[in-house]
Amino acid sequence: MKKLGIYIHIPFCESKCYYCDFTSGVSNNDVISSYADAIVREINEFDSTGYIVDTIFIGGGTPTSVSSDIIEDIVLAIRKNFVLSLVEFTIEGNPNSYTKQKLDHYIRLGVDRVSVGVQSLNDKVLKAIGRVHTSSDAKLCLQLLMDSGLKVSADMMVGLPYQTLDIVKRDAKMVMDSGIGHVSCYSLILESGTKLASKVANGELVLPSDDDAVDMYDAVMYIAKGYGLNRYETSNFGVPCQHNVGYWKLKEYAGFGVSAHSFNKGVRYYNTNNLQDYITGNKYIIDEKPTLAELASEYMMLSLRLDQGVDIEDFKSKYGDKSYNDMMSIAKGQAEYLHIDNRFISIKPEYSYISNSIIEKFI
Ligand SMILES: C[S@@+](CC[C@H](N)C(=O)[O-])C[C@H]1O[C@@H](n2cnc3c(N)ncnc32)[C@H](O)[C@@H]1O
Ligand code: SF4
Repeated sequence: MKKLGIYIHIPFCESKCYYCDFTSGVSNNDVISSYADAIVREINEFDSTGYIVDTIFIGGGTPTSVSSDIIEDIVLAIRKNFVLSLVEFTIEGNPNSYTKQKLDHYIRLGVDRVSVGVQSLNDKVLKAIGRVHTSSDAKLCLQLLMDSGLKVSADMMVGLPYQTLDIVKRDAKMVMDSGIGHVSCYSLILESGTKLASKVANGELVLPSDDDAVDMYDAVMYIAKGYGLNRYETSNFGVPCQHNVGYWKLKEYAGFGVSAHSFNKGVRYYNTNNLQDYITGNKYIIDEKPTLAELASEYMMLSLRLDQGVDIEDFKSKYGDKSYNDMMSIAKGQAEYLHIDNRFISIKPEYSYISNSIIEKFI
């Protein structure tokens, strides 16, 4: 049996944050319920022969913003159509839609890990980016999640309007004081077409400089380390998320829902970004069969984001001698920036700030 990760995309939120370019938005209950029916249909249509599911990630959007009965319908469909041997089952949400009742329901469904979008614990920053919660909502939510006994992760962002290095350091300490076992820290990507991009363009809001944003990220990394949450991937610290590690190691996965990506049975496919099209069954937009060389290059690109780096034996067994020789000759040309031993090739920590340009050499 081959291991498979399952991703479910719930594209609904209580309101749209000014910086967000994800397939997500506000919808009414009728749309949400037709959407759940469409996901259940897509799950039922998947030929699961030969697969055993070891991770599930319900993300979005904001899965906690919909009724937990909707989540139950989807989980029951997964349980019916797949053989499960779960090592991790995550649900993602935002601070004011997690409740004790929902958490209890998720636990009954098998969830063992919760992720919450904190972003910042400064009310002026939160308001400037259009978050619907306050700093105290986020602190109460972290407490609620910790009290549940589940594994807890929090998302933070740096490079936001009104953020200073001191504000970020204080926020990071408060987040980690809660005792969480995992933090993701993202540098703001100013996506074109978002409300934040136009507020910055018309001078209403000012962003910290790139150098300041790098200092903020480094501060979060340093503070996380002090709490025992070591960086294992560019944006992630603490006990690794098994589902995401699966993506970075090119494990097979099946994504269900609007805009969800999949990679299984040697094929990559992407669902439509259009919610109505998805609901009416017009799901797939691209379908491609990557070559071995493409997969090898993608494996390098993704593994080099991990602090552990590329597992040389795994690479060789998956992609063969030719890809191995090509990869080693590029690695030797980049030896100054890389740590190479018998088992792994990784980017030296002091060069992680130029990791993208090092990784590009392998593509
Ligand atoms: C899809 S959201 C899920 C969590 C939940 N919807 C929330 O916002 O609380 C995943 C995370 O991506 C990050 N994110 C979203 N848009 C981003 C952007 N433009 N730049 C950097 N990080 C972003 C945020 O940290 C967010 O928590
Ligand atoms: S950041 Fe999260 S809550 Fe905000 S719009 Fe995006 S998905 Fe929704």
